[in-house]
Amino acid sequence: QAYEKKKRLYELHRQTANYYYKILKTTPSAREYLSQRSISQETIREFGLGYASEDWSRLTDFLVTKGFTLTEMLDSGLVLASESKRHYDRFRDRIMFPIVNPRGQIVGFGGRLMTTGQNGPKYLNSPETPIFSKSYELYNLNHCKNFLDDGQILIVEGYMDVISLYEKGIKNTVAALGTAFTPFHGKILERYANEVIIAFDGDSAGKSATEKAMNILKKTSLNVKILNLPSNEDPDSFVQKYGQQGFLDAVAKALTIVEYELGLLKKHNDLSQTDGRLRYGNEAINVLKQLETSLEVDYYSKMVAGETGINQEVIRREVMRSKKRPD
Ligand code: GTP
Ligand code: MN
Ligand code: MN
Ligand code: MN
Ligand code: MN
Repeated sequence: QAYEKKKRLYELHRQTANYYYKILKTTPSAREYLSQRSISQETIREFGLGYASEDWSRLTDFLVTKGFTLTEMLDSGLVLASESKRHYDRFRDRIMFPIVNPRGQIVGFGGRLMTTGQNGPKYLNSPETPIFSKSYELYNLNHCKNFLDDGQILIVEGYMDVISLYEKGIKNTVAALGTAFTPFHGKILERYANEVIIAFDGDSAGKSATEKAMNILKKTSLNVKILNLPSNEDPDSFVQKYGQQGFLDAVAKALTIVEYELGLLKKHNDLSQTDGRLRYGNEAINVLKQLETSLEVDYYSKMVAGETGINQEVIRREVMRSKKRPD
């Protein structure tokens, strides 16, 4: 019974996606918006992008004609009830991004305003429903799983990062949906990939999200790297500016967790001063304790020795002492 109910919700979402897709075709302003963001017709089709018109109940009216009950519509989260029991569409005047699970079922939507300002938040997502949970779903996992030659997945922040990279031929990407990256997301990625590259926005929000995701991913079996973008770029803007090769070059230079954390320490300590070098050396030792093999410990001890003038063997010994995970 619960299964029948879910089946109806999947069907409702499928028909809604088709509906938004058709409306996009006949809405020049929305098509213009996507073309200005360099999204081709083919990519629009590949992602099933659509448009929700600004009318209050156009989708609701459509779903009624398709035989869906009000309960089903409300359960889907795509239709809302006002206090006066009038029904209206959740998404209005937004570019629509269907969220597709790895089985190919549409489970929810994200919607973006074309001009931000008055009409609510820039992005709006489906709420939690019987078929959609933000902390489990990863945008584009349905495509991404077919493009994992190297067992590597790029994790980006947003819909447009995924789509823009896809447009430029980089298809092994997923995005967490607006909310934070969760341990569930980590578990799911473990099933598909060997290595993940965190490629969040270069701004301070992106940086703090990077550290949170990093700490979640440390606890998985995944090899984790971090792509450090300039502070005014996200993967979308970066690939538009520097092209596929420019982006791939940046990916090739992605940092290991230890390199990234040492980089943070270097920012907080003045290595041109003796006390800064000593403090950095001490803090670096704590970072190196998370390394799993003595090979890595040796490698990074040498690096920190070079940066501080402290003897490499002294650093190595301190790292190995009370190491969290001896090999
Ligand atoms: P563009 O402006 O279209 O390039 O989007 P963006 O992805 O660069 O936006 P941003 O970096 O601000 O946000 C990244 C992701 O966070 C988006 O793709 C959304 O999934 C989510 N997000 C951003 N703003 C909002 C918001 O106002 N509400 C919600 N729920 N999610 C948001
Ligand atoms: Mn951002
Ligand atoms: Mn933002
Ligand atoms: Mn962004
Ligand atoms: Mn962006």
